[in-house]
Amino acid sequence: ETKTEDFVINEDKIKDLFRPRNEFSHKGTYGKVIIAGGSYGKIGAAVLSTKSALKSGTGLTFTLAPKCGYEVLQTSNPEAMFIEGGNDFIDHFEKDDNAVYGIGPGLGTNEKTVKSFLTFLKNHSKPLILDADALNIISQDSKNLKIIPENSIITPHPKEFERLFGTTENSFERVKLAKNKAKELGIYIVLKDHHTQIVTPEGDVFYNITGNSGLAKGGSGDILTGIITSFLAQNYSEKEAAILGVWFHGRAAEFASEKHSKESMLPTDVIDEFGTVFKELN
Ligand code: APR
Ligand code: MG
Repeated sequence: ETKTEDFVINEDKIKDLFRPRNEFSHKGTYGKVIIAGGSYGKIGAAVLSTKSALKSGTGLTFTLAPKCGYEVLQTSNPEAMFIEGGNDFIDHFEKDDNAVYGIGPGLGTNEKTVKSFLTFLKNHSKPLILDADALNIISQDSKNLKIIPENSIITPHPKEFERLFGTTENSFERVKLAKNKAKELGIYIVLKDHHTQIVTPEGDVFYNITGNSGLAKGGSGDILTGIITSFLAQNYSEKEAAILGVWFHGRAAEFASEKHSKESMLPTDVIDEFGTVFKELN
């Protein structure tokens, strides 16, 4: 058994990791993101996740969503393009090997969505960002865990983690179980919590200390998915994208709470502070 280590993510490490934009660049330099999610009544999740990917520096951003979300998506995020994946929910996933996919926010668990998502998962070999209903679908059968592409990043909150891997007594036991599963499956597990932990396929754990209770609101997780997907598309490694993404999300929340209070800040306000965080890093 190899030794694993625990780390706390500090600002110095983040500044080392962060790469400023190159002036001699074009949109192709900053990757292509496809956010796949949204269903009737949950289009907002796809809106937030897409906006978050746009504001994180992605070169080209698409939303793969059902037709019922077309107008609201194109209106709220004019910089993003739309890929129709069904009528009221996604029932087919367009495959694009050049893109980095963030899948799950508001996706729903309709039978047809389940079928098409699992088929997509089986046929995709590049690392994916999997969140929310993508994880809930995977939880339906433990055999699904084995078809997650190697080096993918999954971002479960405690309930989603429990559905995927079973219950644990406390958060200490949860990290231990996450280490075992990350190693066994060869994936990154982002255990979302007050202090989010990033567990690597080597079994190392990175503790994040940015963020606050102003994030305890529906939609906060959706924007984390957009950030991490964007950083992965911008050629950060999976490990860097997960660490930088979680830290960045929390730091933006700190600026948002200063301006709006923890009570009133919304995920949209957190997205509006991404620029402040980038300025701090540049
Ligand atoms: N302190 C710091 N960070 C927090 C806190 C807190 N007290 N509370 C929440 N957060 C952060 C988490 O670390 C995570 O990054 O906010 C985010 C919350 O993510 P989710 O729990 O996934 O919430 P969200 O996705 O916005 O909820 C909307 O999607 O996943 C489904 O079941 C979920 O129906 C829900 C919906
Ligand atoms: Mg969530």
